[in-house]
Amino acid sequence: MLIPSIYQVRGITHETADVFTLTLTGKEKMLFRPGQFNMLYHFGYGEVAISIAGDPTNQDDLVHTIKAVGSVTNQMQKLKIGDEIGVRGPFGSQWPLSQTGCDVLVITGGIGLAPLRPALLHLLANRDKYQNITLLFGARHPSDIIYKSDLENWEKQGIKVEISVDHADMDWRGQVGVVTYMIKKNIRDPKNTLVFICGPEIMIKFAVQELLGAAVEEAKIFISMERNMQCAVGFCGHCQYGPYFLCKDGPVFSYQQLKHWLMIKEL
Ligand SMILES: Cc1cc2nc3c(=O)[nH]c(=O)nc-3n(C[C@H](O)[C@H](O)[C@H](O)COP(=O)(O)OP(=O)(O)OC[C@H]3O[C@@H](n4cnc5c(N)ncnc54)[C@H](O)[C@@H]3O)c2cc1C
Ligand code: FES
Repeated sequence: MLIPSIYQVRGITHETADVFTLTLTGKEKMLFRPGQFNMLYHFGYGEVAISIAGDPTNQDDLVHTIKAVGSVTNQMQKLKIGDEIGVRGPFGSQWPLSQTGCDVLVITGGIGLAPLRPALLHLLANRDKYQNITLLFGARHPSDIIYKSDLENWEKQGIKVEISVDHADMDWRGQVGVVTYMIKKNIRDPKNTLVFICGPEIMIKFAVQELLGAAVEEAKIFISMERNMQCAVGFCGHCQYGPYFLCKDGPVFSYQQLKHWLMIKEL
C-alpha cells in the first residue's frame, strides 16, 4: 500500500478545458468499491489523491477524472498515451449502495461528479433494486459540464438528471442558480430517500440544510470529504478532521458522523 504499481495511460478524454479523464491499464487488476480513491504518482512531480471514476465491474480499465488545479495535476494534464504513472490503492470507504428499495438523490458540483460516477453506474446496473434515482449536478458554466455523453445516456436509462449552472451563456437553455435550489422539489418521499453528496464544502453545508429542512433522515445522508492527503493510510495525520483520518475513516461518511465537525468554521 506504500509502493506504487506501474500503470500505463491507455486513453485520454478531454472533458473540459481543465478536466481530463485518464484510462490506465496495468498488470495488476484492481477491484474497488464506488467511493474509493487511489494515490496517483506522476514521476518527477508528486502524488495526488484521485477518486476512481470507472465502472466497478470492469477490472481491466482504471479510470480517473482529474481537474488541473496545481503543481501535480497541471503536469498530469500533459501525459500522453503510453506514459507511465504510479498507482497506490484503492483506499477508503464506499457509498452505502447495499441500502436498496429507496429513492436515491445524488447531489454534486463540479469535479464532485467524478467520485460519484461508479455509484451511478452501479445504480443503473441494479436499477430494479432502487426506486427513483435523481442526479442534481451544478457547474459554474456550461463549458464546465463534464461527462456530457454519460449524462445524456443516464437520463435515457432512467435517471432523472437536473443540471444547473451558476453563469449561463447565450446557448444555455437549462436552469441557472446554485445546485442546492433544486433539492426540495426533487424529494418525493423524505423518510425513504438515500442521499449521496460530493462537491465543495460550502455546497455540502447548504445541501445538508435543505435536506434536513425537507425532513430527510440524518442517517440517510452520506458525504464524501475530499481534502488534501499525503500517505492515504492513516500514518501522517495530514488529513485529520476532528477525530477522523479522512483517508482511512472516509472519504465517505454518514452525516451523523460528521455533523458536529462540519459546523465548525475553519476546521
Ligand atoms: C479522497 C480524495 C479524492 C479526490 N478525488 C479527486 C478526483 O477524482 N478528481 C480531482 O480532480 N481531484 C480529486 N481530489 C482532489 C485532488 O487530490 C487535488 O486537486 C490534488 O491533490 C491537487 O494537487 P496539485 O499538486 O495539482 O495541486 P496543489 O498545488 O497541491 O494545489 C492547488 C490548489 O488546490 C488546493 N487543493 C489541493 N488539494 C485539494 C483538495 N483535496 N481539496 C480542495 N483543494 C485542494 C490547494 O490548497 C491549492 O489551492 C481528491 C482528493 C481527495 C482527498
Ligand atoms: S493522508 Fe496521511 S493520515 Fe490521512
